[in-house]
Amino acid sequence: MDGNNDRSVGNIMNNPKTEESILEIRNLSVARSGVKVLENVSIDVKRGEFVGLVGPNGGGKTSLLLTIVGVLKPQNGEILVFGNRPADNKSLGMVGWVPQAAANIPKHIHITVRELVSLGTLNHKNYLGKMSTYQKRRVEETIQMVGLSGVENVDVSKLSGGQLQRAVIARALASEADFLLLDEPLVGVDRGSRNSLLKLLDNLCHDFDKTIMMVSHDLTAITQTTHRIIYLEGVVQFDGPTEFLPDLNELASIRGIEHVHSNTHVVPEWVKSPERESP
Ligand SMILES: Nc1ncnc2c1ncn2[C@@H]1O[C@H](COP(=O)(O)OP(=O)(O)OP(=O)(O)O)[C@@H](O)[C@H]1O
Ligand SMILES: [Mg+2]
Repeated sequence: MDGNNDRSVGNIMNNPKTEESILEIRNLSVARSGVKVLENVSIDVKRGEFVGLVGPNGGGKTSLLLTIVGVLKPQNGEILVFGNRPADNKSLGMVGWVPQAAANIPKHIHITVRELVSLGTLNHKNYLGKMSTYQKRRVEETIQMVGLSGVENVDVSKLSGGQLQRAVIARALASEADFLLLDEPLVGVDRGSRNSLLKLLDNLCHDFDKTIMMVSHDLTAITQTTHRIIYLEGVVQFDGPTEFLPDLNELASIRGIEHVHSNTHVVPEWVKSPERESP
């Protein structure tokens, strides 16, 4: 990590709908097992933004999300979510996290869509047997919001990849989360479902005032959908409107990769990831 933030155009944002601050990160450093994995990261996210988080394997994307939800603690720097420290009681339920491979629910676990989404309403104050009328209504509304009306009572093992991903997103939303953190939600989703899933996420930002940070290796999907891209490789290498994302050769040079042969295009490893689908 060289701490080079010169390419960042972080202040030229994508006209967020409001100036309400959802996430404020200042000079954040995070270490795992004694090794620094994030260094001097500063990011501001406003309500209504749809942010794509990209970067090479091991670049710290998941670590950043884990720090936002309070699982990992900063070594240095400050992080505020809805103006509070991560996992503060005041922002209980306001952040929805869909972990990497969340949709890999073992086939032998029999649970319906409605039951899965209801799990999202669990918190330290309630358990499922004591769901309030409001929470029950919330579950139904969320199922509708993600386009799963009609399959509420279907076992999740019977869903398509796209439907399953919608169901785990609905579980994250059911707590009334306003800020969604999605780690690789497009893996295992076929192209048709991928497009409608991305449309759903875009609608959630535009029509429901949600704020989304989405990790994906699918650069095509990210550039076509999100308004802003953050390229993370231990440090923030790029942060700005999607249309300003440097081309692949430039990204490679940001990462310090040199051409071995003058006529050879250098493509970063993360762009060549098998998880990345063609347009
Ligand atoms: N539990 C852990 N203990 C120690 N180091 C870890 C742990 N988990 C991840 N790391 C290290 O932290 C760094 C960042 O990993 P992280 O999982 O955040 O990257 P990522 O960008 O999400 O990668 P990927 O694209 O492969 O999901 C890597 O060097 C990784 O080896
Ligand atoms: Mg990861």
